[in-house]
Amino acid sequence: MKSTNSNNRSREENNGHTVTSAGSEHEAGNDGTLQSSQLMQLFLTELKDIYWAEHALATAFPKMIESVTSQELVAVLTYHLTETAAQIGRLEEVFKSIGKPVSGLKCAAMEGLLKEAETIMEDCKKGAMLDAGIIVAAQKIEHYEIASYGSLRQFAVTLGLDEAASLFEITLDEEKAANDRLTSIAVESVNPEASEKEII
Ligand SMILES: [Fe+2]
Ligand SMILES: [Fe+2]
Repeated sequence: MKSTNSNNRSREENNGHTVTSAGSEHEAGNDGTLQSSQLMQLFLTELKDIYWAEHALATAFPKMIESVTSQELVAVLTYHLTETAAQIGRLEEVFKSIGKPVSGLKCAAMEGLLKEAETIMEDCKKGAMLDAGIIVAAQKIEHYEIASYGSLRQFAVTLGLDEAASLFEITLDEEKAANDRLTSIAVESVNPEASEKEII
């Protein structure tokens, strides 16, 4: 197998957890065969990426919630923050299930999405406009998570990592539901309210 470990090592970040030294991966699939494939290496890289991303989100979410006016939106975001903590725990279970130490890799995409959320919070007028902006930022984040967990679940299925696949499935459903709740609030209340307000 051609090694791409040098790239992975440069992205390694310690999230307060053990940082693994990138090396060839040998995992046992359900059929007992050793997994040392390129897909397994990509699976591990993506697992560490989303682990870093969920931590970054859990840190950034409270400020977003504090900026929101709609109590319905506060409730949805607060609930999803609680889910995010459980999702981090689920990722740690995945690491355990494949016999790997928990570690994160800096996720450039999530870093960018959170920077964009910061800009929206600076640029929007507090009230319906800011609420609509925060929904946009949050939905971009949810879509990134949906893509990540969907791919990870499929990788796990192909690799025969059934426990991991089941754990990703639970989180994927939560991310989709969070996105749907945000759409409902935007369509039913926040966007119409913002459309009625003039820029002063
Ligand atoms: Fe999440
Ligand atoms: Fe999410």
